[in-house]
Amino acid sequence: MNRLTEITVTNFLLILIVATSGCVGTQTVESPARGYVPAKAPYGHLAPTPPMGWNSWNFFAQDINEKRIKAIADAMVSSGMRDAGYTYLVLDDAWMAAERDANGALQADSDKFPKGMKEIGDYLHSKGLKFGIYQDRAHLTCQGLPGSFGHERIDMETFASWGVDYVKMDSCFGRYNGRLSSEDYMIFRMFLEQTGRPVVLSISDFGNAAWVWGGKESSQLWRTGWDIRSNMESIYECAEASAGSERSHPAFNGLWQFAGPGYWNDPDMLQVGNFKISEEQLSQLQDTGRSGIGKFKIEDDQLRASANKAHFGLWCILAAPLMSGNDLRNMSDEVRDVLTAPEVIAVNQDPRGIQGYKVFVDGNLEIYNKPLSDGTTAVLLLNKGTEISDLTVTWEMIGLSGRQPVRDLWQRKDLGIFKDSFTAKGLGQHGSELIRIGTKGKPLPTAEPVPLEKHTVTRKGETNLSDLYYAWRRENAPVYNKTFEGNPIRINGKTFEKGFGLKSESIFMFAGTERGDRLVGTFALDEAYTGEGKGQLIIYHEGLFGDRRIWDSYEVSKDTPAKEINVELDRYNCIMFEFVKIGGKDAEDVLGVIGNLRVIDEQ
Ligand code: GLA
Repeated sequence: MNRLTEITVTNFLLILIVATSGCVGTQTVESPARGYVPAKAPYGHLAPTPPMGWNSWNFFAQDINEKRIKAIADAMVSSGMRDAGYTYLVLDDAWMAAERDANGALQADSDKFPKGMKEIGDYLHSKGLKFGIYQDRAHLTCQGLPGSFGHERIDMETFASWGVDYVKMDSCFGRYNGRLSSEDYMIFRMFLEQTGRPVVLSISDFGNAAWVWGGKESSQLWRTGWDIRSNMESIYECAEASAGSERSHPAFNGLWQFAGPGYWNDPDMLQVGNFKISEEQLSQLQDTGRSGIGKFKIEDDQLRASANKAHFGLWCILAAPLMSGNDLRNMSDEVRDVLTAPEVIAVNQDPRGIQGYKVFVDGNLEIYNKPLSDGTTAVLLLNKGTEISDLTVTWEMIGLSGRQPVRDLWQRKDLGIFKDSFTAKGLGQHGSELIRIGTKGKPLPTAEPVPLEKHTVTRKGETNLSDLYYAWRRENAPVYNKTFEGNPIRINGKTFEKGFGLKSESIFMFAGTERGDRLVGTFALDEAYTGEGKGQLIIYHEGLFGDRRIWDSYEVSKDTPAKEINVELDRYNCIMFEFVKIGGKDAEDVLGVIGNLRVIDEQ
């Protein structure tokens, strides 16, 4: 196993332990930010458009040092990246020493950064760049270095004294904090604010539903999925977490309605330029332990160019933060032209801040629409498959009609006037076109967002959760008002019209507005389930990280009598359900049902 694979596997195991284990008992810890009301929520002024910069992780992983980082900073200026808008240079994990100093403050790894971090900050600022830094909300970072838990105040003060402008706050081991995600991130927001320095806070939590639990109260961006890798499967998967229905109910058509000026869905850092590196670079990297990157080579020049454009085009249409992650010291013209394409970046940075959404999907063919502030609209036509295809956007799909001018944003060229539709011809694998359609004027309407009362408990009285869309899920989606296999829900001979059918493993979350005093329902394994497997339903206040269990069925089998859920809800912002099989990965899957699951607001 080479080093990169090792890193990835270690991270993955940590993520699994930290993020998915249902068996870690954690003590609840009082948050120092309890009751704190951020002064200027939602900090629109800190990131009115998606933040842009460069982050060290995707290319260097732990192997960062002063020389490399300064060379990257220089390259950000000389390549035109800074002037194209990439201003944050973010040092990711492994910049810090294994020990804090005598006062408990974080310090730089003195081998890597002998002059310390303030000097790096000064260097970046002298180049017209901004200084970003990584930390973790728990006692250790993902690489096992000192995390911020219990040192939140001193760490934010230290960062401010170094001139830090952006903090990426990770979540490895966060489950041991005994605090909810919303509490953890509010603590950092509070201490950052108290320094008086405007600092962007980026939630890095493997996409554990910040859009549901209220990440925008404390932060400007939040991850929507797992770590990105430098291959197109991973890139499309990350895009999908933000743009597709994978992590939210299909009714949402992605997470677009949860983003806007000031707060952004983050499908992770860019891999543009990381698909292929030269043998020379590779051997240089082998010295420093990053040889695994060679695995993801796309040798064919044209395919690689298409892949870079498809990736960047997706991030731009999705109004995603643009954190480049390639070796800017050795960037090819092709990669630089993609990353600095002015009219493509303008789509991403459009002040209206609408995240593009899908208006057409047919297998591997997708069309995205992003209405812009000037009355025109940006459209991405993308072929994720291998078959060469034409792809047509009709004006009807994007709220236009008649004759409309079309401009190619990569080529920066007007393509002419088109009536009723435009066809991208002969799109090959990863082939895409990014165009702007229409004339300047009144901004076009967007798609309809799902109304709040359809996905959040907002009402007095009784709200049946199967009348709402879940706002986040992982693995098997719950089936509404039927068993997982599509039969009526029956428990103890009684048929329930409403409720959920479950198959292990399944996690899903409903949003709340602190309305509701009680959660009520009936849980059992599915009557039709004849297996010997055992299951468990755990209900949490908020997400996985806080481990704030409000109800637990404990182990149930097909002979266990149904269990009544009847718990008090105390000021919750969301409720999460986790249905697991007992006995580990290879154990038999189980089917469960919850009848008439509802939130009751008694006041
Ligand atoms: C996690 C994050 C990555 C990176 C690494 C560093 O996996 O999701 O983006 O910061 O940690 O260890």
